[in-house]
Amino acid sequence: MPNPKNTLQPDSIRSQLKAKVSKSVWKLFETTATCADNLKMDVYLVGGCVRDFLLDAEALDWDIVVQGDGPELGEAIAAKLGFKIQKKSQFLTCAVVLENEDKLDIATTRSETYKHPAALPEVQKSSIDEDLFRRDFTINTLALKLNGENAFSLINKYDGLEDLNSGLIKILHSKSFLDDPTRAFRAIRYEKRFEFSLESETNQLLKEAIDAKVFDRLSGFRIFNELKRTLQEKRPVSYVQRYKEIGLLQCIHPNLFDPTSGTKLLNKIEKGLHHLKDTPEKWKVYFLGMLYSTPKKSRQPCLSRLDIKGKEASFFQESIESVDKTLIALDKTEDIDPIVIYEALHRLSDEAISLLIALAKTEGVKKAITSYNDYYRERAILKVNGGDLIKLGFSPGPTFQNILESLKKARLTENIQTKDDEIDWIQKKFNPEKS
Ligand code: CTP
Repeated sequence: MPNPKNTLQPDSIRSQLKAKVSKSVWKLFETTATCADNLKMDVYLVGGCVRDFLLDAEALDWDIVVQGDGPELGEAIAAKLGFKIQKKSQFLTCAVVLENEDKLDIATTRSETYKHPAALPEVQKSSIDEDLFRRDFTINTLALKLNGENAFSLINKYDGLEDLNSGLIKILHSKSFLDDPTRAFRAIRYEKRFEFSLESETNQLLKEAIDAKVFDRLSGFRIFNELKRTLQEKRPVSYVQRYKEIGLLQCIHPNLFDPTSGTKLLNKIEKGLHHLKDTPEKWKVYFLGMLYSTPKKSRQPCLSRLDIKGKEASFFQESIESVDKTLIALDKTEDIDPIVIYEALHRLSDEAISLLIALAKTEGVKKAITSYNDYYRERAILKVNGGDLIKLGFSPGPTFQNILESLKKARLTENIQTKDDEIDWIQKKFNPEKS
């Protein structure tokens, strides 16, 4: 449920904001305000951070816009605080980076025009009102002035506050989804994250954008970026379901993600990820689950449409193939030998193992994977290395690999604990004279 602050007077906003942010971020706000005053510029916190502040949600990035010149203000702040400034290639933007890696993104107020649907916008300097009007949804048009007269007053030019209170995702003008179709993905992300609803005209225009096939003009890179961000949400399964339900995944490829088998699989992934010791990149596991729930022949076309190429494409394709092979290998025997478990699993990435856990059907297979994850994986980590083998008199070459691999397997079944145990074992089994 939305929980906007009811005290929106500047003094109250100031004290609430001060209480919310770290000391270093607060100092950065104060310095920003002073530098902007000196340069006679007006500076505002904008977008998601203001929305999240009003919802009392955790804000991760602090975005600032300045009516003036972003990089000039950035230089002044950095000079005053002795921090670094990162210039960006985008229009008049920069970032001030604090010692603890906290970052303040500074942009210059701008308006955007789109030459054709889904084009990258052409930008020009503008007023704060125009800058807020170019944004995706009303709840992201809220701004907090940081300096000068009316410091800490809330700018609510497009009824963002009312929509935040009513839990509505609403676009600002009827061409919004045509200008930037990524907003369709963003709309659902906010709808699900905040448990809000799409305002009725917004809902209608989103459907029309899907019917008009505007997504065909959107680069795979931009769509994949949105999908990734969605899969990075805390519990993304319902988001993916909703994308499928309204036809957004079909804009990527008609066969991407079979919702019946796919939802079950993603739910299992979600459950598994919550009590996993190792931390795979979660979005990759969900994406693997989505691909796994896509007919084989459509997987490569999905990757191509999303501009996923080279190593990254191979990672997804090969993970799925090796997960299938591993399932077959583990399914064969009832009581699985540690060496068989190790051989089946040790080449898989953490992400592929997470998918495997979700796919395992029999108790035997589940136990095998868990025992690898919880025990054998670590047991197979050797204490000796190539340097130790040289000290023992072995010459570098294929024997090295043979010794180390054999030792790993021995560690799984024999009582070898310390480095001395390993050296004893090597000396008993291998002879340097013969290497
Ligand atoms: N924005 C937009 N249209 C887009 C992307 C971004 O209007 N396609 C604007 C919105 O005002 C948004 C701000 O740029 O609030 C910052 O973008 P982003 O960081 O993507 O949005 P957040 O709301 O901060 O997203 P999140 O909470 O998911 O990090």
